[in-house]
Amino acid sequence: MRETPGGKQSPGAKQRPGAKREGERRRLQLKVAVWATAEEAADRAGDPTLPSQCAVVIDVLRATSTIVAALAAGAAGVIPVLTPEEARALARTMPGGHVILGGERKAVRIPGFDLGNSPREYRAEEVGGKTIILTTTNGTRAVHAASAAARVLMGAILNASAVARAVIREGRDVVIVCAGTRGSFSLEDTLAAGVILEALPGAADAEGYDLEADYDDLSLAALAIAGHYAGRFDEALRWTHHGMDLEALGFAADLDYCARLDAVPVVPVWSDGVIRLRMGEGAD
Ligand code: MLT
Repeated sequence: MRETPGGKQSPGAKQRPGAKREGERRRLQLKVAVWATAEEAADRAGDPTLPSQCAVVIDVLRATSTIVAALAAGAAGVIPVLTPEEARALARTMPGGHVILGGERKAVRIPGFDLGNSPREYRAEEVGGKTIILTTTNGTRAVHAASAAARVLMGAILNASAVARAVIREGRDVVIVCAGTRGSFSLEDTLAAGVILEALPGAADAEGYDLEADYDDLSLAALAIAGHYAGRFDEALRWTHHGMDLEALGFAADLDYCARLDAVPVVPVWSDGVIRLRMGEGAD
Protein backbone atom coordinates (compact mmCIF):
# COMPACT_ATOMS: atom_id res chain seq x y z
CA MET A 1 0.00 0.00 0.00
CA ARG A 2 1.66 3.21 -1.14
CA GLU A 3 0.83 6.18 1.01
CA THR A 4 0.46 9.82 0.06
CA PRO A 5 3.77 11.67 0.38
CA GLY A 6 3.80 13.30 3.79
CA GLY A 7 2.02 10.54 5.66
CA LYS A 8 -0.91 8.15 5.60
CA GLN A 9 -3.62 10.78 6.11
CA SER A 10 -1.99 13.61 4.28
CA PRO A 11 -2.63 15.83 2.40
CA GLY A 12 -5.77 17.50 3.67
CA ALA A 13 -6.46 15.25 6.64
CA LYS A 14 -7.80 16.91 9.75
CA GLN A 15 -8.70 15.37 13.09
CA ARG A 16 -12.21 16.74 13.55
CA PRO A 17 -13.34 17.38 17.12
CA GLY A 18 -16.34 15.13 16.53
CA ALA A 19 -14.35 12.26 15.04
CA LYS A 20 -14.74 8.87 16.61
CA ARG A 21 -12.08 7.75 19.09
CA GLU A 22 -9.18 5.72 17.74
CA GLY A 23 -10.57 2.39 18.95
CA GLU A 24 -13.91 3.04 17.20
CA ARG A 25 -12.47 4.04 13.87
CA ARG A 26 -12.49 1.78 10.86
CA ARG A 27 -9.93 1.40 8.13
CA LEU A 28 -10.91 2.13 4.54
CA GLN A 29 -8.52 0.77 1.92
CA LEU A 30 -8.99 2.17 -1.58
CA LYS A 31 -7.07 1.88 -4.81
CA VAL A 32 -7.03 5.24 -6.56
CA ALA A 33 -6.29 5.68 -10.27
CA VAL A 34 -6.50 8.62 -12.65
CA TRP A 35 -7.08 8.11 -16.37
CA ALA A 36 -5.89 11.05 -18.45
CA THR A 37 -8.31 11.23 -21.37
CA ALA A 38 -11.69 10.09 -22.68
CA GLU A 39 -9.75 8.04 -25.24
CA GLU A 40 -7.82 6.21 -22.51
CA ALA A 41 -11.13 5.57 -20.74
CA ALA A 42 -12.65 4.19 -23.96
CA ASP A 43 -9.64 1.87 -24.37
CA ARG A 44 -10.01 0.70 -20.77
CA ALA A 45 -13.82 0.51 -20.71
CA GLY A 46 -13.55 -3.30 -20.74
CA ASP A 47 -11.24 -3.36 -17.71
CA PRO A 48 -12.65 -6.18 -15.55
CA THR A 49 -12.26 -4.13 -12.37
CA LEU A 50 -14.32 -1.17 -13.66
CA PRO A 51 -17.75 -2.65 -12.82
CA SER A 52 -16.82 -2.78 -9.15
CA GLN A 53 -15.33 0.73 -9.03
CA CYS A 54 -16.59 4.24 -8.44
CA ALA A 55 -15.75 6.48 -11.42
CA VAL A 56 -15.53 10.25 -11.19
CA VAL A 57 -15.69 11.96 -14.60
CA ILE A 58 -14.04 15.36 -14.82
CA ASP A 59 -14.18 17.94 -17.59
CA VAL A 60 -13.57 21.17 -15.71
CA LEU A 61 -13.62 23.26 -18.90
CA ARG A 62 -16.45 22.84 -19.17
CA ALA A 63 -18.80 19.85 -19.49
CA THR A 64 -18.89 18.57 -15.93
CA SER A 65 -18.88 22.13 -14.53
CA THR A 66 -21.90 22.77 -16.76
CA ILE A 67 -23.65 19.59 -15.61
CA VAL A 68 -23.05 20.60 -11.97
CA ALA A 69 -24.40 24.11 -12.66
CA ALA A 70 -27.45 22.86 -14.59
CA LEU A 71 -28.57 20.37 -11.96
CA ALA A 72 -27.95 22.82 -9.13
CA ALA A 73 -30.15 25.28 -11.05
CA GLY A 74 -33.02 22.78 -10.99
CA ALA A 75 -32.70 20.85 -14.25
CA ALA A 76 -34.52 17.53 -13.94
CA GLY A 77 -31.68 15.61 -15.57
CA VAL A 78 -28.90 15.73 -18.13
CA ILE A 79 -28.68 13.12 -20.88
CA PRO A 80 -25.15 13.05 -22.31
CA VAL A 81 -24.98 11.97 -25.95
CA LEU A 82 -22.13 11.67 -28.39
CA THR A 83 -23.25 13.65 -31.41
CA PRO A 84 -25.47 16.61 -32.33
CA GLU A 85 -27.47 14.30 -34.62
CA GLU A 86 -28.13 11.91 -31.73
CA ALA A 87 -29.18 14.85 -29.56
CA ARG A 88 -31.68 16.12 -32.15
CA ALA A 89 -33.10 12.64 -32.78
CA LEU A 90 -33.57 12.02 -29.04
CA ALA A 91 -35.22 15.43 -28.57
CA ARG A 92 -37.79 14.53 -31.25
CA THR A 93 -38.91 11.54 -29.16
CA MET A 94 -39.50 13.65 -26.05
CA PRO A 95 -42.42 15.95 -25.12
CA GLY A 96 -41.84 19.48 -26.45
CA GLY A 97 -41.32 22.28 -23.95
CA HIS A 98 -39.51 20.05 -21.48
CA VAL A 99 -36.27 19.50 -23.35
CA ILE A 100 -33.26 21.71 -23.85
CA LEU A 101 -30.60 20.94 -26.43
CA GLY A 102 -27.20 21.99 -25.11
CA GLY A 103 -23.61 21.60 -26.14
CA GLU A 104 -20.71 22.77 -28.21
CA ARG A 105 -18.36 22.01 -31.00
CA LYS A 106 -15.10 23.97 -31.04
CA ALA A 107 -16.39 25.47 -27.75
CA VAL A 108 -19.29 27.37 -29.34
CA ARG A 109 -23.01 26.61 -29.36
CA ILE A 110 -24.11 24.07 -31.96
CA PRO A 111 -26.36 25.67 -34.63
CA GLY A 112 -30.03 25.24 -33.71
CA PHE A 113 -29.29 24.29 -30.10
CA ASP A 114 -30.88 26.19 -27.21
CA LEU A 115 -27.73 26.57 -25.13
CA GLY A 116 -23.99 26.18 -25.54
CA ASN A 117 -21.58 24.74 -22.99
CA SER A 118 -21.10 27.72 -20.71
CA PRO A 119 -22.15 26.82 -17.15
CA ARG A 120 -23.31 30.41 -16.70
CA GLU A 121 -26.02 29.88 -19.32
CA TYR A 122 -27.65 27.12 -17.28
CA ARG A 123 -29.71 29.35 -14.98
CA ALA A 124 -32.87 28.32 -13.15
CA GLU A 125 -35.09 30.40 -15.45
CA GLU A 126 -33.69 28.56 -18.47
CA VAL A 127 -33.38 24.99 -17.23
CA GLY A 128 -35.58 24.61 -14.13
CA GLY A 129 -37.61 21.38 -14.41
CA LYS A 130 -36.27 20.64 -17.90
CA THR A 131 -34.27 17.72 -19.23
CA ILE A 132 -31.08 18.73 -20.97
CA ILE A 133 -29.68 16.69 -23.84
CA LEU A 134 -26.00 17.58 -23.86
CA THR A 135 -23.26 16.81 -26.36
CA THR A 136 -19.71 18.14 -26.02
CA THR A 137 -16.44 17.38 -27.73
CA ASN A 138 -14.71 15.48 -24.93
CA GLY A 139 -16.80 15.54 -21.75
CA THR A 140 -19.87 13.59 -22.81
CA ARG A 141 -17.61 10.97 -24.44
CA ALA A 142 -15.78 10.56 -21.13
CA VAL A 143 -19.10 9.96 -19.34
CA HIS A 144 -20.02 7.19 -21.77
CA ALA A 145 -16.54 5.65 -21.55
CA ALA A 146 -16.90 5.39 -17.76
CA SER A 147 -20.44 4.04 -17.79
CA ALA A 148 -19.51 0.44 -16.90
CA ALA A 149 -18.44 1.52 -13.40
CA ALA A 150 -20.60 0.56 -10.43
CA ARG A 151 -21.16 4.24 -9.73
CA VAL A 152 -20.42 7.19 -12.03
CA LEU A 153 -20.20 10.66 -10.49
CA MET A 154 -19.51 14.03 -12.14
CA GLY A 155 -16.64 15.97 -10.60
CA ALA A 156 -15.36 19.52 -10.92
CA ILE A 157 -13.61 22.09 -8.79
CA LEU A 158 -17.09 23.45 -8.06
CA ASN A 159 -18.11 20.31 -6.16
CA ALA A 160 -14.77 18.74 -5.15
CA SER A 161 -15.43 18.18 -1.45
CA ALA A 162 -18.98 16.91 -2.01
CA VAL A 163 -17.67 14.41 -4.56
CA ALA A 164 -14.88 13.30 -2.20
CA ARG A 165 -17.50 12.62 0.46
CA ALA A 166 -19.62 10.64 -2.02
CA VAL A 167 -16.56 8.58 -3.02
CA ILE A 168 -15.85 7.71 0.61
CA ARG A 169 -19.49 6.78 1.17
CA GLU A 170 -19.28 4.46 -1.83
CA GLY A 171 -16.30 2.72 -0.21
CA ARG A 172 -15.12 1.37 -3.57
CA ASP A 173 -11.85 1.64 -5.44
CA VAL A 174 -11.97 4.85 -7.42
CA VAL A 175 -10.97 5.78 -10.93
CA ILE A 176 -10.98 9.42 -11.91
CA VAL A 177 -11.70 9.75 -15.61
CA CYS A 178 -10.36 13.03 -16.96
CA ALA A 179 -11.89 14.03 -20.28
CA GLY A 180 -8.71 15.65 -21.56
CA THR A 181 -8.78 17.61 -24.79
CA ARG A 182 -9.08 15.72 -28.08
CA GLY A 183 -6.98 12.81 -26.85
CA SER A 184 -4.41 14.85 -24.95
CA PHE A 185 -3.76 15.34 -21.25
CA SER A 186 -5.29 18.53 -19.89
CA LEU A 187 -3.92 20.34 -16.89
CA GLU A 188 -7.30 21.57 -15.65
CA ASP A 189 -8.85 18.10 -15.40
CA THR A 190 -5.82 16.62 -13.64
CA LEU A 191 -5.76 19.62 -11.29
CA ALA A 192 -9.40 18.97 -10.37
CA ALA A 193 -8.63 15.27 -9.90
CA GLY A 194 -5.94 16.30 -7.41
CA VAL A 195 -8.30 18.68 -5.63
CA ILE A 196 -10.83 15.86 -5.16
CA LEU A 197 -8.11 13.43 -4.04
CA GLU A 198 -6.79 15.99 -1.54
CA ALA A 199 -10.25 16.08 0.03
CA LEU A 200 -10.50 12.29 0.44
CA PRO A 201 -8.65 11.89 3.78
CA GLY A 202 -10.70 14.65 5.41
CA ALA A 203 -13.91 13.16 4.00
CA ALA A 204 -12.90 9.72 5.30
CA ASP A 205 -12.11 11.18 8.70
CA ALA A 206 -15.52 12.85 8.83
CA GLU A 207 -17.12 9.46 8.15
CA GLY A 208 -15.08 7.78 10.93
CA TYR A 209 -12.53 6.08 8.66
CA ASP A 210 -8.77 6.02 8.55
CA LEU A 211 -8.07 6.10 4.83
CA GLU A 212 -5.36 3.90 3.39
CA ALA A 213 -5.20 4.90 -0.25
CA ASP A 214 -3.06 3.16 -2.84
CA TYR A 215 -2.43 5.92 -5.39
CA ASP A 216 -1.26 5.27 -8.94
CA ASP A 217 1.37 7.56 -10.40
CA LEU A 218 -1.05 9.92 -12.16
CA SER A 219 -2.95 10.30 -8.86
CA LEU A 220 0.30 11.34 -7.22
CA ALA A 221 0.97 13.80 -10.04
CA ALA A 222 -2.57 15.17 -9.68
CA LEU A 223 -2.03 15.69 -5.95
CA ALA A 224 1.22 17.50 -6.67
CA ILE A 225 -0.48 19.74 -9.25
CA ALA A 226 -3.31 20.56 -6.83
CA GLY A 227 -0.76 21.44 -4.14
CA HIS A 228 1.16 23.63 -6.55
CA TYR A 229 -1.92 25.64 -7.54
CA ALA A 230 -3.55 25.76 -4.09
CA GLY A 231 -5.57 28.98 -3.79
CA ARG A 232 -4.76 29.87 -7.42
CA PHE A 233 -7.16 27.74 -9.43
CA ASP A 234 -8.34 30.74 -11.48
CA GLU A 235 -4.74 31.41 -12.46
CA ALA A 236 -4.23 27.73 -13.30
CA LEU A 237 -7.27 27.62 -15.58
CA ARG A 238 -6.13 30.75 -17.43
CA TRP A 239 -2.75 29.13 -17.93
CA THR A 240 -4.15 26.01 -19.62
CA HIS A 241 -4.30 25.54 -23.35
CA HIS A 242 -8.09 25.15 -23.44
CA GLY A 243 -8.49 28.00 -20.95
CA MET A 244 -6.59 30.31 -23.28
CA ASP A 245 -8.76 29.19 -26.22
CA LEU A 246 -11.92 29.89 -24.21
CA GLU A 247 -10.63 33.28 -23.16
CA ALA A 248 -9.91 34.17 -26.80
CA LEU A 249 -13.50 33.19 -27.68
CA GLY A 250 -14.89 35.56 -25.02
CA PHE A 251 -15.51 32.97 -22.29
CA ALA A 252 -13.07 34.34 -19.68
CA ALA A 253 -15.88 34.56 -17.12
CA ASP A 254 -16.37 30.79 -17.44
CA LEU A 255 -12.82 30.24 -16.18
CA ASP A 256 -13.53 32.27 -13.05
CA TYR A 257 -16.83 30.45 -12.61
CA CYS A 258 -15.29 26.97 -12.92
CA ALA A 259 -12.33 27.77 -10.63
CA ARG A 260 -14.47 28.34 -7.51
CA LEU A 261 -13.69 25.60 -5.00
CA ASP A 262 -16.80 23.95 -3.51
CA ALA A 263 -19.06 26.76 -4.73
CA VAL A 264 -21.74 24.36 -6.03
CA PRO A 265 -21.67 21.40 -3.64
CA VAL A 266 -23.91 18.92 -5.42
CA VAL A 267 -23.13 15.42 -6.67
CA PRO A 268 -24.43 14.51 -10.13
CA VAL A 269 -24.78 10.76 -10.63
CA TRP A 270 -25.23 8.88 -13.91
CA SER A 271 -27.84 6.15 -13.88
CA ASP A 272 -29.44 4.43 -16.87
CA GLY A 273 -28.26 7.10 -19.27
CA VAL A 274 -29.42 10.12 -17.26
CA ILE A 275 -27.39 12.28 -14.87
CA ARG A 276 -29.33 13.49 -11.86
CA LEU A 277 -28.56 14.89 -8.45
CA ARG A 278 -27.94 12.38 -5.74
CA MET A 279 -30.39 13.15 -2.99
CA GLY A 280 -28.85 14.01 0.37
CA GLU A 281 -25.36 14.76 -0.97
CA GLY A 282 -25.14 18.42 -0.15
CA ALA A 283 -22.60 20.65 1.45
CA ASP A 284 -23.08 19.40 5.02
C1 MLT B 1 -15.56 19.41 -24.05
O1 MLT B 1 -16.38 18.53 -23.73
O2 MLT B 1 -14.69 19.20 -24.88
C2 MLT B 1 -15.55 20.77 -23.40
O3 MLT B 1 -16.50 20.85 -22.44
C3 MLT B 1 -15.41 21.86 -24.41
C4 MLT B 1 -15.87 23.22 -23.95
O4 MLT B 1 -15.18 23.91 -23.20
O5 MLT B 1 -16.95 23.67 -24.34
